[in-house]
Amino acid sequence: MITLIGFMGCGKTTVGTELARRTGATAIDADAVVEERGGRTIARIFEEYGEPYFRDLERRVLAELCGNGGPGILCTGGGAVLDERNVEAMRAAGPVVWLRATPESISRRIAGDLSRPLLKDGATPESVAARLEPRLLLYEQTADVAVDTDGKGVEEICDEIEAALARLGKGQS
Ligand code: S3P
Repeated sequence: MITLIGFMGCGKTTVGTELARRTGATAIDADAVVEERGGRTIARIFEEYGEPYFRDLERRVLAELCGNGGPGILCTGGGAVLDERNVEAMRAAGPVVWLRATPESISRRIAGDLSRPLLKDGATPESVAARLEPRLLLYEQTADVAVDTDGKGVEEICDEIEAALARLGKGQS
């Protein structure tokens, strides 16, 4: 299993879907499974039950997906790295790829998107940076490979991921 990590709006789901298409693997979006289990959108889960409840649900979903041998490609929520138990589960299940993006490009990509409760008051480069910076070390420590996504299309990003994983001897079979 290959796990994609990175901040909100860095393209995990888009890239994961394309990586899966290339190999015939299945891509699963952990946020979508959380919504299914919670019976609500992530925005509603945060609103009705708060972030700790969401994080608990997210941890259980990730443990289950990683423990199963996982799908071919696992797309995680941007905060998955905040819990050490998630980090262990993801790393045990296979290579972890960090999709890196600058606050400016993240802000452009998610401006006006109301589905992300942590940035519901606006995703300016400054507010993105304030949330991103404390996470940078966690993304870096969790990932086997980091790929810069700014200014690149999904094909180019997938090519780079495949090349980086092949160099590590961890390519998709
Ligand atoms: C979050 C990222 C979101 C979602 C939730 C919390 C975060 O996922 O899990 O809103 O803490 O960064 P995406 O990265 O897919 O937007």
